[in-house]
Amino acid sequence: SLPTTVKIVEVAARDGLQNEKHFVDTAIKIELINRLSAAGFQNIEAASFVSPKWVPQMADGTEVMAGIERRPQTIYSALTPNLRGFEAALAAKADEVVIFGAASESFSQKNINCSIAESITRFAPVAQAALDAGVRLRASISCALGCPYDGETAIETVLDVVKRMQDLGVQEFDIADTIGVGTPLKTARLMEAVATLVPMEQIAGHFHDTYGQALANILAALQVGVSIFHSSVAGLGGCPYAKGATGNVATEDVVYMLHGMGIHTGLDLPQLVDTGAWISAQIGKPTNSRAGRALFLK
Ligand code: HMG
Ligand code: MG
Repeated sequence: SLPTTVKIVEVAARDGLQNEKHFVDTAIKIELINRLSAAGFQNIEAASFVSPKWVPQMADGTEVMAGIERRPQTIYSALTPNLRGFEAALAAKADEVVIFGAASESFSQKNINCSIAESITRFAPVAQAALDAGVRLRASISCALGCPYDGETAIETVLDVVKRMQDLGVQEFDIADTIGVGTPLKTARLMEAVATLVPMEQIAGHFHDTYGQALANILAALQVGVSIFHSSVAGLGGCPYAKGATGNVATEDVVYMLHGMGIHTGLDLPQLVDTGAWISAQIGKPTNSRAGRALFLK
């Protein structure tokens, strides 16, 4: 049966903006996050403490975290590939840190410059530090449904990475379709397989909409019990290390679908639509959200 409540992790300020050609001003990032907080998110990815040479767009994470107004019920997360990133996230008072690995060797190399096995070794002290500091620990697993370099991903590879992350004490597992190649039955099968290792409540679906499959994949994942999904307002996003990958599924579209199915999100759709239109205007691009466009014109 379908979940009655879904948690949406809003990733526009991180996954969305990390891929923009032009640097988005810190003040705009802060206003975006403040607007998202006001719309009611339980969890917002706010920053990424990675090498500024690799991802210059995220270089102002400290300033962004210091500038936002925090809603007490909201978890503000930051990506932390190593201890240096973790220390910066802790200093910035991130409520949750995200280690990010891949289920594909080539993507691991391109994205974080090491093998899957090496990445786990690097994440171990980050995970320990997070547990010691009492900071929530989440893990993202890229290319879970396919890789731009290695093609299809075997379920066993995803499970192997999930297991290793679980051994580190990870509390939430993002199963990410980085390049949006997944289709619904494969998605459902993968989520069910992951759920043989970790409780369903700890599994999140992170879908990019490159092939137009994201909403269908979310529905398939919902039907097997997944109740956490990532999305970005206006469908912003992409990954600098996955050529041609388009944005995350648009939050407005996901929320329109969920509310239409009677599933609670705690989110205010009209505010999301306004925020999606606002950030699209700020970066000078039309929105990628179908529901956003339709509702904005109404
Ligand atoms: P490296 O070059 O192997 O490591 O990079 P390094 O330790 O030799 O560091 C290289 C340089 O970065 C050094 O500077 C370090 O000081 C600096 P230099 O000496 O050359 O001047 N550095 C840092 N600076 C700031 N903060 C840090 C940090 N660490 C090192 N934390 C590294 C390894 C992991 C650092 C690098 O590969 C990197 O930053 N990668 C980030 C890639 C990234 O952010 N990708 C996008 C996010 S993942 C994603 O979008 C997928 C997701 O959405 C899910 C999905 O859709 O699949 C989550
Ligand atoms: Mg992503």
